[in-house]
Amino acid sequence: MLNQRAVVAGVGSYLPEKVMTNDDISKIVDTTSEWIVQRTGIERRHIAADDQNTSDLATIAAKRALDDAGISAQDVDLIIVATSTPDFTFPATAVSVQYNLGNTTGYAFDIQAVCSGFVYAMTIADSFIRAGNASTILVIGAETFSRILDWTDRTTCVLFGDGAGAAVLRAQPVVEDQLEQGILSCHLRSDGSHRQKLYVDGGPSSTQTTGHLRMQGREVFKHAVGMISGVVTDAFAASGTTADDLAWFIPHQANRRIIEASAEKLGIDIDKVVMTVEGHGNTSAASIPLALDVAVKDGRVQRGDLVMLEAMGGGFTWGSVLLRW
Ligand code: UT7
Repeated sequence: MLNQRAVVAGVGSYLPEKVMTNDDISKIVDTTSEWIVQRTGIERRHIAADDQNTSDLATIAAKRALDDAGISAQDVDLIIVATSTPDFTFPATAVSVQYNLGNTTGYAFDIQAVCSGFVYAMTIADSFIRAGNASTILVIGAETFSRILDWTDRTTCVLFGDGAGAAVLRAQPVVEDQLEQGILSCHLRSDGSHRQKLYVDGGPSSTQTTGHLRMQGREVFKHAVGMISGVVTDAFAASGTTADDLAWFIPHQANRRIIEASAEKLGIDIDKVVMTVEGHGNTSAASIPLALDVAVKDGRVQRGDLVMLEAMGGGFTWGSVLLRW
């Protein structure tokens, strides 16, 4: 292991132009804007255009992150795309992004951990950088969940949306006696005994169809706060930090009630919570980098800030990433 850390050098995000409000959705299924806002905090979601695939959303977010970092696509060694809605069964969506960006020297692959995809991908990137296997990595969360929703099922179709977010991670040597910048700790978990509580009922090996998202929402809700609190507490213990040390808590944006209950259980001041779920709904692997990009670009996240990312989703999978900005 080299004595180096993965530092976030730039962030970017993209939401498709088409907006679907709660009122729009109430014309499709038997629901109301009041129900959706009260139960989830969601006000609208973005829907990819017919000619936009997940790789297109990912490419725009990636270009914005590269610009923010002030580097070119050729500087990237590795591209990781976290997605559960790939363009094709194979090849990986990440190689399409690599092609779109014009990167000819690196390598690219997808990872699939549903809503926890971004924290899984950040953890992989951190490990690659610490091991010296890559020094500049594009980590992207990108989804077109509108393509796998059952638009007749009001218990799921009101919750999700499309979008993409990206972060550029770069290796930085650790210098003794200086404030540790970069990723400080990563904690991942999964428990396959819950795999049928949030899943897609199709796939190449099982049905040879794409399938639709199915969820026992109440079951997911029941486990979410405890699982999230567990991995965030692990991060505090591993780094010798507490909720008071956090500048920002940037959770997976699935449901306002889950986010608020998690923050309360962890003793995190609600003013430190970055919440963007109202503007895009649950965008699965894209939601954390979407929220991170907003909080960085509006000036909330400042150099030296301690930032906690966390997510929980299908599998179940869950995890946290603690970093110093
Ligand atoms: O990344 C992880 C991904 N998933 C999640 O985070 C989802 C976690 N779960 C949740 O966020 C919540 O469970 C939901 C938002 C999905 C549902 O909220 P809830 O408070 O758990 O509602 P519920 O499932 O207990 O349903 C309450 C009622 C039911 O009617 P009855 O049986 O009480 O008559 C549902 O049929 O609300 C009804 N309902 C709706 N009504 C209007 C369910 N969906 C809707 C809807 N509009 N869209």
